[in-house]
Amino acid sequence: MRHLTDINELTVGEISELIATAEDIISDPKKYSDACRGKKLATLFFEPSTRTRLSFEAAMYELGGNVLSVSSAGSSSAAKGESVADTAKTVSCYADIMAMRHPKEGAPLVASMNSSIPVINAGDGGHNHPTQTLADLLTIWREKGRFDNLTVGFCGDLKFGRTVHSLISALSRYTGIKIILISPEELKLPSYIKRDVLKANGIEYKQTTDLIEVMPELDILYMTRVQRERFFNEEDYLRLKDSYILTPDKLKTAKSDLSILHPLPRVNEIAVSIDSDPRACYFKQVLNGKYMRMALILKLLEVTV
Ligand code: NCD
Repeated sequence: MRHLTDINELTVGEISELIATAEDIISDPKKYSDACRGKKLATLFFEPSTRTRLSFEAAMYELGGNVLSVSSAGSSSAAKGESVADTAKTVSCYADIMAMRHPKEGAPLVASMNSSIPVINAGDGGHNHPTQTLADLLTIWREKGRFDNLTVGFCGDLKFGRTVHSLISALSRYTGIKIILISPEELKLPSYIKRDVLKANGIEYKQTTDLIEVMPELDILYMTRVQRERFFNEEDYLRLKDSYILTPDKLKTAKSDLSILHPLPRVNEIAVSIDSDPRACYFKQVLNGKYMRMALILKLLEVTV
């Protein structure tokens, strides 16, 4: 039995297979509409979510399966003090697969060690978010047709942004990748990721506070929200929240085929007027997330179509 707690539990070959399945689902959704008949997905979300939970649920419905859902910590036995391990054992009695979001780093890993069904990490604290990475990768694939030889800028909260951590891990396995880390001093990428992912894989990278200066180099610009819920005090959040706001004038020096990604939700990081720019890919990313979650559910349930 397989789980997905970290994106690199999938090989590069398996990522390509998931992308191929997602592309096939996009071209022929009817073929998959009964694939998970009689199967149940449990979504356990102990932190707020719109896209991730609804896209998992939409994915399971579009595969002909059913969904059981805990949509907040307060509405489950977690509020009574139940451990993640006991929750995982319990959910294993009711469902065939579960997706868990949790404020504590490592909670989905603990769940996977206590579960008799596949566990998918739907975001754990400021750590990882592998299924957002699957959405990001399909988007990059559909926009660029490759993962090699890309210069990717990550901008905003690189310290707490779990989607950034997972996407950097995934990209570090391809060749010719150059990473540009754009953040305020206080929100730099954690040093363990620089050491264990970037340096360990010999990835070329640089850090800057200046988005405008590096704009002409970028093939992909990955914008992020400052993660208010991870801050220890509100003052720091208020000081840093508007560090980067992408406006049309800042795109003047950008490549004409730049792809602008954002995992969403957007607070203030991208001006709404950019939404109509053909380089804006963030709502395509939302849709791609559903297809990749469909492909992942099929894989982990070992369903062949
Ligand atoms: C992200 C998350 O939850 O980490 N959202 C998402 O799942 N698309 C990004 C964020 O909350 O800023």
